[in-house]
Formats: sequence, structure tokens, C-alpha cells
Amino acid sequence: MKELLPKATYESEIAASRDRRMAWWRDGRLGLFIHYGVFSVPGRGEWIQACEGISVEEYEKLADLFLPKVGCAREWVKLAKETGCTYAVLTTRHHEGFSLWDSRVNPFNSINFGPHRDIVREFTDACREYGLKIGLYSSLMDWHHPDGWRCAFDREARRRFLDYIEALNTELLTNYGKIDILWHDGNAPMETAEGWDSLARNQRLRALQPDIIINDRSGLVEDFGTLEGAINGTDRDWEACMTFNDLSWGYVDDAQTKPYAYSCQQILKMINKCCYSGGNLLINIGPRPDGSVPEDAIRPLCQVGKWMQRNGAAAYGQKAILPDPYWVYICKFSAESDRKTYYLWFFVWPTGGEFGVGGFRQPPKRISLLKDGSSIPFTYDGYRIQMTQLPRNCPDESGLAVLKFEFAAPPDYIPSSRYPQLNGGVYYPPSDNRL
Ligand code: GLC
Repeated sequence: MKELLPKATYESEIAASRDRRMAWWRDGRLGLFIHYGVFSVPGRGEWIQACEGISVEEYEKLADLFLPKVGCAREWVKLAKETGCTYAVLTTRHHEGFSLWDSRVNPFNSINFGPHRDIVREFTDACREYGLKIGLYSSLMDWHHPDGWRCAFDREARRRFLDYIEALNTELLTNYGKIDILWHDGNAPMETAEGWDSLARNQRLRALQPDIIINDRSGLVEDFGTLEGAINGTDRDWEACMTFNDLSWGYVDDAQTKPYAYSCQQILKMINKCCYSGGNLLINIGPRPDGSVPEDAIRPLCQVGKWMQRNGAAAYGQKAILPDPYWVYICKFSAESDRKTYYLWFFVWPTGGEFGVGGFRQPPKRISLLKDGSSIPFTYDGYRIQMTQLPRNCPDESGLAVLKFEFAAPPDYIPSSRYPQLNGGVYYPPSDNRL
């Protein structure tokens, strides 16, 4: 075992290998989050045990009712692939403390209870079959382990519990081949990296999987930030995780969640925002108790996948961060990082057949419809790119079409002026507003 590094050295060492380790992730854009566990059975969200005050004894009885059907993990991963995801992240053990694998250190697991099957193995096998990168979510907080709370104030309990957490993660990173992402969550009750001894543990875990990327929820900065329920760019690698309905991560009655479920267009709008603000989207499904995926998620996700097949160039790969992706709200740009190719995503198609883009100081060489490459005629007056012969109906069956703008060199761009009468002339605010 390599000697443990002090924090600053550890951080600069992982920073040095980050570009290599994260290249696939930065290109990959889209992942599927899968929240699955005993909490699916009562179907009132993954926090049910804590929120409803359920004792460990009572909760354990639910574990025998947890009966994932054979092949469900493969269905999730197949759906992820069909959605256009490049990776998937499974809650191998959520805060309830139930391990979805054959754990030697945690008897509260899916071999001893419920299905008597190793769901993590089924998931990792399926990811390899479909060529997806593998993410394992692993909670720190644990509502089942007797030391899971006592560790906050009892030194012996802390030591035992930290050993337990490390042993669980060691199993996950040792027994299932190459793992691409370790996704920590829930750092109560210790709250800090010091309290969780994360520096030492994460170093030992990385030694098991040298290419792994780790998120920021064990209290250390690690490889990427995790935004939750919001897409706001930050100046580091980040991933926004989103529920499917803004209600719950774990399963709740899908007959009732249906009206809240995201549509294909809403998800595409999230992907667009991730593109121009420089991050990934991790969209969540909460499978039913039997592991099947609610229809309200399958349909829009498959539509997203079909859209990505036609228009993926606008979404995948490292894109430029655009502080002003365009001021018109019905459409937004994404752009290649060399800024010679821009993609304009139309959330609402201009059905009048014309549309103008103000702000580029050089004209594009060519404008085309991304999905089939057909040319779009345009004129240019030094500021405004004007198209007057656009198809009258949205030319993408999803309702969201993309135009590709190719420039000979990265164009200068000034955000569409608040003073159109200047026609692109630069406006200098007066230093003194008194007339
Ligand atoms: C929050 C929730 C947790 C969920 C996670 C996903 O931390 O507490 O239940 O798994 O978000 O990011």
C-alpha cells in the first residue's frame, strides 16, 4: 500500500491525472441515475424511513417484499442506452443501508433478503453488455447500521463505522471489475471530510481503481461537483442530477406522478443548458418495486434518445461555455469548443419561415439543418444573419430542431443589442446620466 498523502499533495496528484480520467465523462454529457432499493416497496420516496420514523425492525420486514423481477437491471441499462446516455449510476446502497449486492460485511443485503440475487452484478454486467460506463452510488449515511448515528459522538463507534463504510466500498470496487464512477452521498452525521476520514479512505479506494472518478459528496473536492435539481454552471467539472418529476428520486405511485413527469422537450432543454454552461446531466428514474420502469419515464427518454441520434453532434463532446447562449428565449446555442461551429436549438420553431440572428460580426460559411445536413439559405449585413426560407413546420419530429452554423474562424460575437436601432454599433453607456 502506497503511503497516504497529505491533502494538498493528494489533490494535486488527482488534478494531474484528471484530464485523462475524465475525458470520456466530459464528452459523454448524459447519464441515467437509478434510485432503487427497499424504499421502492412502500413507494413514498427514498427518505421514507427517516421521514416517517420507521424503526429498523419494521423496515427490515419490507426487505422481504422487495422482489425485483429477473432482468430488470438489464432493462434499466437498455433504456439508458436507448436514451443516448453514455453512463449509468445505480444506488447500490442508499441511506436505508440495504446493499443490493452479495456483501460479506453487511448482512442486510439482497442475497439474504428479498430477491436473493446480486443486483449490482446484474447492473454491471448489463452496462458492459451495452457499452455504458459504470457508476456506483454509495451512501455514507446509514440508517440501519447500529453505529450509523452513534458514530457522531462515540469514538469507538466512529472507528467501527468508518471501517464498515470502507469495507462496503472496497467490495464494490474489488468484486465487479472496472468501475468508472464512485458517487458518494449523504454525509450526515459527521458532515466534514475530517469527520468521515475521507482523505485516507478515498486514497485507498482510488488505489483499487486507478481510473475512477469520484464526486464531491464525501466532503472533499475530488473530481466533480454535484448540482441537485438545478442546472447552474460552476467553474469546475460538474453534473446536475435531476429527478424525473421534481417530486422524488425513489419510486412513488406513477399513476399520480405522471402529470409531473418531464417531457422529451424539457429534458432536451436541460441538456442544452448543460452544454452551454459546461456540465453533464444525470437524469433519474425510480423503478417500481418489481424493478420495471414507469411508462411516464420510458416514453420521453426514448424520444430523447431518438433525438440524440439525429442531433447528438449539438450535445455530445466538449462544448464551449457560452455566457450568452443567445437572448431569444425560444432558442439557445451550443458550440464546439473551437467556436467555429455553433448549433442553434429551437425550442419553438419560427413557423413564419423567417428568423434572424443578430450579433455575429462575421458571416457563417454555411447554415444547415443538423439532422440531415440540408442547406439553409441566408443573407448577412455585417450584423444580422437573416434566414427567410425556413421550413414552415418544425423539421424535427420531436418539435425541437437544430440549425448548424459553420464559420471559417471563430467569429466575434456581441450579444444581441438592447439597441437594435444601432444595428450592431457598439453602445457605450454614458458616464453621466444627467441631461
Ligand atoms: C439527496 C437526497 C437523496 C438522493 C440524492 C441524489 O441527497 O437526500 O435521497 O439520493 O439527493 O442526489
